[in-house]
Formats: sequence, C-alpha cells, structure tokens
Amino acid sequence: MQDLSLHILDLIQNSIAAGASLIKLTIYEDKEKNWLTIDIEDNGKGMDKIAMRRAADPFYTTRSTRKVGLGLPLFVAMAQRCGGDVVLKSTKGKGTSIKSGFQLNHIDRPPFGKLEDTITTLILCNPDIDFVYIHKVNDDEFKLDTRDIRQIIGDIPIEHPEIINWIQSYMKDGLNEINGGVQ
Ligand SMILES: Nc1ncnc2c1ncn2[C@@H]1O[C@H](COP(=O)(O)OP(=O)(O)OP(=O)(O)O)[C@@H](O)[C@H]1O
Ligand SMILES: [Mg+2]
Repeated sequence: MQDLSLHILDLIQNSIAAGASLIKLTIYEDKEKNWLTIDIEDNGKGMDKIAMRRAADPFYTTRSTRKVGLGLPLFVAMAQRCGGDVVLKSTKGKGTSIKSGFQLNHIDRPPFGKLEDTITTLILCNPDIDFVYIHKVNDDEFKLDTRDIRQIIGDIPIEHPEIINWIQSYMKDGLNEINGGVQ
C-alpha cells in the first residue's frame, strides 16, 4: 500500500513537470465529519480539455520513457476506494488544480507517511519553485510558505543544509502541535 505522502509526491512531480513556479498543497483532516481533503494547485502550463480527459486514463501519458502514466489514475482509484473522489480542473497556460475528498478513517485509507520528509525533499530538489503547505486538523492550522522563508533568509539559498534542516523540524513540530498527519 502506498503512503499518501507518495501519492502527493507523484502529483507534485506532475506540477513540476508542467513548469510550475508555485505549488500549493492543502490537507484538511475534518475529524467531526470523518473527511480528509487533499488539494494541489499549481501555476504550470495546464491542460486543454482533451488532455484533461486523458489524464485520468492510465494508458495516456506525455512521458516518453514508458507507455503508461500512473500518478493520477492511482490517486483517483485510492480516493474512490475510500468513499470519495477527485475533481481535476485545468486551464491551458494558467495551471491545474486537483481537489480530492475521502473518508478519513476508511479501512483502505493509506497512512499519511512522512509528510515533512516528502515536502522537505521537494524543496531541496526544486529550490527555484515556491511551495505553500497548509495542513488543518479541525480548527487548528499549520502553514509553511517558502516565499516567507526566502524573505527571512535573504541571500542564503533555501537549499542550504541548515535551512533545509530547519524547515524539516519546523514542519515536524508544527504537525505535532496540531496532531496532523499522524497515521
Ligand atoms: N499538474 C499538471 N499539469 C499539467 N499536466 C498534467 C498535470 N498532472 C498531470 N498532467 C498530464 O497528465 C498526464 C498523466 O499524469 P500521470 O501522473 O498519471 O502520469 P505521468 O506523469 O505521465 O507518469 P507517472 O506519473 O507514472 O510518472 C501527464 O503525462 C501530463 O501530461
Ligand atoms: Mg505523474
């Protein structure tokens, strides 16, 4: 079974491949309603209607090294298995948004995995891209915005080991505080 963090990594890789400079991830755990939403928005090159229809089809991919693309179809299948669904919106030249919602405590719901590690790795490997990560649990919220971090660190590159370590532990502590992404 694949962790949610790996699904998220896959979807954000699509945004990166689409040339996005800003990627926003919002995770919302609504424990009262037993509902989990995971949304990813990017300002990449987007898709036209035909490409969008094809995007949820595993036999369609614009990658050239292998004939099937699995990121999106696997995510859709997971959400549907957990009593929910995914809504894909995209505008060519503007960007793409993926909104998903499914049962938080569904027996087939994959564990979150190490969200702070996944996001730290994304920042480290894509220092020119800005990431916004919002994680809500009921009324509590954690937020990380690399644009704010860049303001504070000035000339120091965001991929500097000390900054990366700080980002990772800031996320770990922040998630702990709101009890987010626990399992
Ligand atoms: N955020 C996005 N912006 C623009 N196009 C996208 C986006 N997400 C998906 N696509 C398009 O949908 C296709 C299918 O995506 P999917 O993740 O399923 O497969 P893939 O990325 O091609 O291969 P894999 O994820 O298995 O490496 C992509 O090849 C791409 O053309
Ligand atoms: Mg992909």
